[in-house]
Amino acid sequence: MAISFCKETNTFKLDTNSSTYIFGIFEGNYLVHYYYGAPIPDTDVEILRIRPGFASFCPDSPSARVFNFSPDVTPLEYSTFGAGDFRLSAFAIKNADGNKVTDLRYVSHEIYKGKKGLPGMPALYVNDESEADTLEVLTEDKVTGVQVTLVYSVFESKGAITRSVRVKNASKKAVFIDTVHSLCVDLPGYDYEMFDLYGRWVKERALERYPLHRGIQSIKSKRGSSSHNHNPFTALVKKGANEEYGDCYGFNLVYSSNFSIDVEVDGFASTRLVMGINPEGFCWHLSPDEEFCSPEAVMIFTDKGVGEMSRMFHRLYADNLVRGKWKKAKRPLLINNWEGTGMDFDHDKLVSFARHAKDMGIEMLVMDDGWFGHRDDDKSSLGDWYVAEYKLRKGLNGLIKEVNDLGLKFGIWFEPEMISPDSDVYKAHPDWCLHTENRDKSIARTQYVMDYSRKEVREYVYSMMKEILSNNNIDYVKWDFNRNLTEVSCAELPPEKQGEVFHRFVLGTYEIMERLVTDFPNLLLENCSGGGGRFDPGMLYYSPQIWTSDNTDPIERLTIQFGTSLCYPASTMGAHVSASRRASYETKKNVALWGSFGYELDPDKLTEEEIAEIKEQVKEYHKYYDVIHYGELYRLITPFENEFKVAWEFVSEDKNEALVTVVQIKQAYDPFFMLRLQGLDRNKYYEIEETGEVYSGAFLMNAGLNLTHKPNGDGQSYLIHLTAK
Ligand code: DGJ
Repeated sequence: MAISFCKETNTFKLDTNSSTYIFGIFEGNYLVHYYYGAPIPDTDVEILRIRPGFASFCPDSPSARVFNFSPDVTPLEYSTFGAGDFRLSAFAIKNADGNKVTDLRYVSHEIYKGKKGLPGMPALYVNDESEADTLEVLTEDKVTGVQVTLVYSVFESKGAITRSVRVKNASKKAVFIDTVHSLCVDLPGYDYEMFDLYGRWVKERALERYPLHRGIQSIKSKRGSSSHNHNPFTALVKKGANEEYGDCYGFNLVYSSNFSIDVEVDGFASTRLVMGINPEGFCWHLSPDEEFCSPEAVMIFTDKGVGEMSRMFHRLYADNLVRGKWKKAKRPLLINNWEGTGMDFDHDKLVSFARHAKDMGIEMLVMDDGWFGHRDDDKSSLGDWYVAEYKLRKGLNGLIKEVNDLGLKFGIWFEPEMISPDSDVYKAHPDWCLHTENRDKSIARTQYVMDYSRKEVREYVYSMMKEILSNNNIDYVKWDFNRNLTEVSCAELPPEKQGEVFHRFVLGTYEIMERLVTDFPNLLLENCSGGGGRFDPGMLYYSPQIWTSDNTDPIERLTIQFGTSLCYPASTMGAHVSASRRASYETKKNVALWGSFGYELDPDKLTEEEIAEIKEQVKEYHKYYDVIHYGELYRLITPFENEFKVAWEFVSEDKNEALVTVVQIKQAYDPFFMLRLQGLDRNKYYEIEETGEVYSGAFLMNAGLNLTHKPNGDGQSYLIHLTAK
């Protein structure tokens, strides 16, 4: 068992192959946090245990006074508001008396093999019970009778611990959950740098890395989605840690709506991190006997650097988050018409796409936005999910038949959570969009947001989607989401439940996605939100790939893909070669190969030479698919540290194959460029395909590969393929 409870010391010890996590039951039944870091033996627990803290002006606790204990100083396992701890609160309820004082104490615990799912929400899962053990610790606020169960699942061989909390109102009066974070971690000292994957539309997930300072630093979204602007991910890394060395704590929330990550450094130089649903805009009314479940958070620790932290997330998500047929199966190589045609297409145009695509070796045609209602621009028809026959003269069936007859699969675009004011559905049900009585409705991209907290709205949308998908041979759906939520309230809910609508909305989205992948188990679902505005683990539970960004410029994609890779595996990142961007097709292909590869262009406009080049690219895509999709990523030179040149490497699990990519962002005179590789077997010998040269793994990882004479002009790039002899 990766989880043990020691009766003598009253401590819980959670062990993984890269970490130990310890907390215990202290006097007064406080849950005190003792340790999170590199593995330590059981024998050392006793010494860690005796460390309550106290200081003037920090309240002591009547129930633990004899021990000189203050909840404001001692590291706590799950902090609460108003009962002596002035640091960040992980949890607070507003009780029936109207105050928010909350004080959770240990009641009992249970340890079991395996891991349970979360009701109606995405969560990591086990393929086999032996993959994880679970600890549930029941705590209670005596005065209100509210019970909170802290749930920990330990994926021992993956170095990961997942956490969530279940809140039950075991009292006779209704309460409001004001704050419910999924995790709280107290660390000694503040010698850490915090990672923020920040950005905006077409510039998602760039890395900002800054030293912690005293006070609170935060990463949040209140947009009703995880957002382009910040990602529900952070890492705290020891100062000086780099890709190859150093202590790294990685945190990620399995959630696609408003989230909040706060880190506080207190006056005693201790660090507390809380992560969960953003309390701003959230207030959950909990009637007697009702339960509420928080989203799940993932924590990973390694002392082997940022690169290893990322690979641990990648392995975990590839094995225990992504589901269904496409988790391991080879995904079809697709062409999407969006950048090629926008909404200006018809039956003949798409058949011509398919013909060219087939000739070039592409396997699936994806028809993007503009096939339904009377949609010729972004001002109409969202919600009218029936075919625009004036564009598709043979109907959807006729189009798909011709595409299939050419030997291609077919994919289609939906934006199921949206509604255009100019649509039949809006005319019939103007109250079906999110809105607040007597206020203007904010509009974005000429669209409103469907109120997914309402069952009849969800039923309507899903029945239309199901009709299309049941009656046509569709292999793939791109699920888009092109604006954020405003005027968030629900016409059907009473005033005390209006603080639930953001969360109810995302639960509605999860419900429809779950129905979709259950009813159509062979469907490949690709998520999208104006590119990567909802690139989060919640979405990955339903869709094995997500469109990483609307920015397909290969140079600008570098920061986006490097940033995304901090937490998410290559197989989850949709990456396409497009026509309209600077840089050669060679570089576009080399960058897009780092992901779920495809094309996004009008093949009618390609020259003979370009078509010939793409045919060669398709061969490379097949050749390198396995090492990229199932191998391990090493970021060798990152754009966050080098403005001239970047390099990355995929290494197969058996270390017999490696693929190195180098991109010269800006021309630079490099009189001597030795690129040190990583992740190889130091005792194996590797042949460089291009030159036939053979080097030991030890040489390549220590001395490096001499790339001095390779192309180094603006935007040039190259691949190096190595195989073990
Ligand atoms: C935004 C997406 O990111 C694009 O790829 C495309 O699908 C458009 N929406 C269509 O409106």
